[in-house]
Amino acid sequence: MASAPQSRRFHLTPKQILFSFIGLMLVYVLLHTEHFLIDSTDPEWPHYRDIARSLLPHGLVGALALALSLTQFSTRLRTRYPRFHRVCGRIYVTSVCLVAPLGVYLSYLDEQIGYTSSFVFASATFAFLWLLATGMAFGFIRLRKIDNHRQWMTRSLAMALVFLEVRVIGGLTGWESTPSTDTIIVWICVALGYPIADLVLEVERALRAAPASARQPRPESSPVREAPNGRDSVPSMTKSSTPSSPMSMRSPSERSAQVSQSG
Ligand code: HEM
Repeated sequence: MASAPQSRRFHLTPKQILFSFIGLMLVYVLLHTEHFLIDSTDPEWPHYRDIARSLLPHGLVGALALALSLTQFSTRLRTRYPRFHRVCGRIYVTSVCLVAPLGVYLSYLDEQIGYTSSFVFASATFAFLWLLATGMAFGFIRLRKIDNHRQWMTRSLAMALVFLEVRVIGGLTGWESTPSTDTIIVWICVALGYPIADLVLEVERALRAAPASARQPRPESSPVREAPNGRDSVPSMTKSSTPSSPMSMRSPSERSAQVSQSG
C-alpha cells in the first residue's frame, strides 16, 4: 500500500514529541530568563553580580547536568556508545551533587530580596528529591536492576526539568515577579515531578503494549546483546529494539516479553 510508508515518514514518536517540547521550553528560558547573559543592561545584573560566586558554578554545572540528563535518554547513544553513556552518567551524578546544595544556598541568599523560608524549604525539597532520584538510579544500575534504574532516572530527569518548568510557568503567567507566587510555582513543580515521571512511564507501557498486539509474528531473534560481565546491559539495545516510547530504556524482562510477544 502506498499510504503506509508515507504515514511512517511523518510519524513522530512520543519520545520525540516530549523532547521537542523540552527543547521549546529550553529556548523560551534562554530567551526570557537567561537573557541577562547577553544583555548587560538587564535589571537583574546587580543581583546576579552580588551572588556571582555561588551562581556561576551553580548555573554552569546545572546546565551541564541538564544537558547530560537529556542525552542519557538517547537510545542511539546508549546503543552505539555504551561507554559514553556510563561516563556521562557518572558526570551527571557528580553534577547533581554539586548543583543541588548550591541551589539551596542560593535560595537562602534570596531571602535578602524578599523570598521567605517557604522558598528555601521548597528548594531544599527540590534538591533532596533530585539527589534521591539520581542516587537511587545510580545505586540500581550498580545492582544491575534495569527496571528500577529506568524508573529513578526518569524521576531524576523530571526533577532536572523543574528548572525549566518554573521559569516557563513564571514567565508565561507573570508570577515570577512576585516572590510568593514564584514560591508557589516551585512547590507545584517539585510536587508533580515524581508523579509526572511515573505517569510518563505508565503511558509508555500502554503505548508499547497496544501496537505489540497488532504486530505480525516474527521468527525468534533476541535483541539483547549483553557483555559477559553484564556491564553493557542498559545500553546494549540493538536498533531493532528501538522503542517508540518516551523513556525508552528497556529492561531484560521487558525485552524478553517483547520477544515472546513478537513470536
Ligand atoms: C537542571 C538543573 C539546574 C540548572 C540548569 C540551574 C541553573 C540556574 C541558573 C542558570 C540560574 C541563574 C539564572 C536564573 O535564575 O534562571 C539559577 C538560579 C537559581 N537556582 Fe538553579 N539550576 C538548576 C537546579 C537548581 C536546584 C536543584 C535548585 C534548588 C535546590 C536551584 C536553585 C536556584 C535558585 C534559588 C536560583 C536563583 C538565584 C537568584 O536569582 O537569586 N537550581 N539556576
